[in-house]
Amino acid sequence: MCIFAPMKTNVNLKSYNSFGFDAVAKFFIEINDIQQLEALIQSDIFRNEKRLILSGGNNILFQDDFFDGLVVFINTKGIEILQDDENEVVVRAQAGEDWPDFVRFTVGKGLHGLENLAHIPGKVGAAPVQNIGAYGMELKDSFLRCEAIETATGRKRVFTKEECRFGYRESVFKNELKGQYIITSVDFHLQKDAPLHLEYGNIKAYLEQNGIENPDLQQLHDTICAIRDAKLPDVKQIGSCGSFFKNPVVEKGQFEALQKEYPTMPHYDEPNGKVKIPAGWLIEHCGPSTSSGTASWKGWRDEHVGVYEKQALVLVHYGGGKGRDIVALARKIQDSVEAKFSIRISPEVNFV
Ligand code: EPU
Repeated sequence: MCIFAPMKTNVNLKSYNSFGFDAVAKFFIEINDIQQLEALIQSDIFRNEKRLILSGGNNILFQDDFFDGLVVFINTKGIEILQDDENEVVVRAQAGEDWPDFVRFTVGKGLHGLENLAHIPGKVGAAPVQNIGAYGMELKDSFLRCEAIETATGRKRVFTKEECRFGYRESVFKNELKGQYIITSVDFHLQKDAPLHLEYGNIKAYLEQNGIENPDLQQLHDTICAIRDAKLPDVKQIGSCGSFFKNPVVEKGQFEALQKEYPTMPHYDEPNGKVKIPAGWLIEHCGPSTSSGTASWKGWRDEHVGVYEKQALVLVHYGGGKGRDIVALARKIQDSVEAKFSIRISPEVNFV
């Protein structure tokens, strides 16, 4: 059996990035099993070329039209129940499994832990890299461990939760160990019975509006899917990467000064005494300068790119644009937020 996956050249990555930008990869390889990845790591092309490990492409912005190197697309599949105790179940998913399908699978089995992370576009292997989060929960809450391969040696390593050093949209894989490991599978620690987390944002309001009094696990999952569908663009229709910026965390003193001037500014107290402010609110409350004053960025559009009309944290590509159009728009938004609120918001999306 040949363990080498076929290497392709000059591959357009448009369908591999959710912004839908045309970017051509000099070399491209799709990995369907771990042996293929192990063989690739030992190859000259892997060692000598600039590399990009591509998962779902849901958090990536290609700034240029050409990627002068090797793109490794991880598409390994498989879900296994590793342990099934009275109330706890450990489930392993291979890195290339689709995240929303995996969450649906666990919910369908009656397992609690991932339901609030329903419908987040992407793949399992990328989820720990930025510790995906939504509706009051984060991946780290159910994460047990992951297996990864070191790119320099091809050696396997298991990372515990502590070793991943998770933070808000952060992990060791985005920081100290950036580019040094490829996550191959993730193990989750799920419960057969657990309280549902309904506190965040408009979950309760949605349930009430739909006459659901005591939601079960499946109903909560479906509610989250519906809320996301109503607020976030469908990437099959409009290119986007979900939230483009992180919500900034500021010192309490800075927040209190801002609150005096903007009493309606939403905010969340952080455990360390700091305050998180929704970037979507900041972006909505400033905008491009126009002759008739300053409009809001929310819903703003410049031919090919813009700010989503229902959620200002989401930058969108309507088609025909370039990654650099988004980069330019993002800079303008950062500058205007900083000019008005003295806060520099930073991107959540990875620039390539
Ligand atoms: N807001 C506005 N205007 C906007 C958007 C938001 O005023 O255009 C205000 C809302 O009124 C609300 C607050 O900002 O008071 C928070 O808004 P929302 O609940 O929509 O959440 P978010 O902070 O904007 C975060 C995550 C999302 C996640 C939602 C729900 C980040 C960077 N984003 O957004 O994650 O789905 O919470 O939990 O933390 C993603 O990472 O790609 C993503 C979509």
